Amino acid sequence: MVEKRISCPNCNKLITVKGEPGETKYITCPKCNEKGKFTFKKDYNEDKTKELAIIDVKNLTKKFRDLVAVNNISFSVKKGEIFGFLGPNGAGKTTTIKAILGLIKYDKGFVKINGKDVLKDPKEVKKNVGYLPEKVSFYDKLSALQNLNFYAELKNISKDKCLPLIEEFGLGEYANKKVGQYSKGMRQRLGLARALLGDPNIIFLDEPASGLDPRGVKWIRNKIKQLNKNGVTIFISSHILSEIQAVSTQVGIINKGVLVAQDSVDNLGEKLKIKPKLILKISKIDDKVKKIVKKIKGVDRVEVSENELIVYCELKLRSKVIVAIENAGIDIENINTEQSSLEDVFMKYTEGN
Ligand SMILES: Nc1ncnc2c1ncn2[C@@H]1O[C@H](COP(=O)(O)OP(=O)(O)OP(=O)(O)O)[C@@H](O)[C@H]1O
Ligand SMILES: [Mg+2]
Repeated sequence: MVEKRISCPNCNKLITVKGEPGETKYITCPKCNEKGKFTFKKDYNEDKTKELAIIDVKNLTKKFRDLVAVNNISFSVKKGEIFGFLGPNGAGKTTTIKAILGLIKYDKGFVKINGKDVLKDPKEVKKNVGYLPEKVSFYDKLSALQNLNFYAELKNISKDKCLPLIEEFGLGEYANKKVGQYSKGMRQRLGLARALLGDPNIIFLDEPASGLDPRGVKWIRNKIKQLNKNGVTIFISSHILSEIQAVSTQVGIINKGVLVAQDSVDNLGEKLKIKPKLILKISKIDDKVKKIVKKIKGVDRVEVSENELIVYCELKLRSKVIVAIENAGIDIENINTEQSSLEDVFMKYTEGN
């Protein structure tokens, strides 16, 4: 069911019409009795998502010789979102970002940013996009201000904003210091300041917290949230789940080039609520014992790792599980319990257990 508000062509009264895509509804205006009809677009839902997608990636594939670094991935990011792109080292995050930004050629698919094809309209796309690369590089012999002035010139924008930006990022007193003498945290701040030259409406941050101390991580996190509040759509990659969880509204998980999950943080959070682990050391694990344990009400999942049976259940079920196994004549050599962490979910998605 689709809902649309239309205005009466005679008296301008707003009328809510409900119907299915493709359906025609005959309407009488409740105010002036004007009669008319309204047809819902057939592809209404599709259109709606497209309108909102500020980053639209379809079937993106990038190969390095035989290695498929990015394998046919599709996703979209809506305006105003903080999209967290999560994956272990080597998963394809940086390659995806570079392909999206048109910095490397890709083999298949298309990418649209702000509705423009990145390959057909690269200049237009880059105008509204900021990028903090994984390895931030500057001209080390130049000062921070000289560096930003240079990039402002490259982007063909006024240099007036460079010093205020440096100040905004807490580097005011080091504006004339050579970037080669900057600490990692200072470089990262300057990198973010550079990404914001020209007031882009989307920024791509590739592992922005990597190598930062806890204070630096907190600073970047707050800055991301503040930028987002001011209307900037943010695409942030990380291999650290807590990093992504702290700021993102939507999450995509990539593993070995494949997008294995995409959901809102809330939904993923629900899925992530996996139960604690009961780890039972058993000398001979077979299908029988797995089946017995799986049958117990409240047991979520049973895994086997070498001679350990890992049972995901509330710890109050502990004795039930143990009794069931012992009743089957199977000896338990050792029992351990472990609280599940969110990392487990990430592992689940990225190792395909
Ligand atoms: N220029 C290149 N030539 C050949 N292989 C490459 C190149 N760049 C990346 N790869 C390979 O593509 C795969 C994905 O790499 P990518 O850098 O995109 O991963 P990532 O998810 O960003 O990892 P990390 O968390 O370590 O930054 C890896 O196997 C990597 O070795
Ligand atoms: Mg990377």
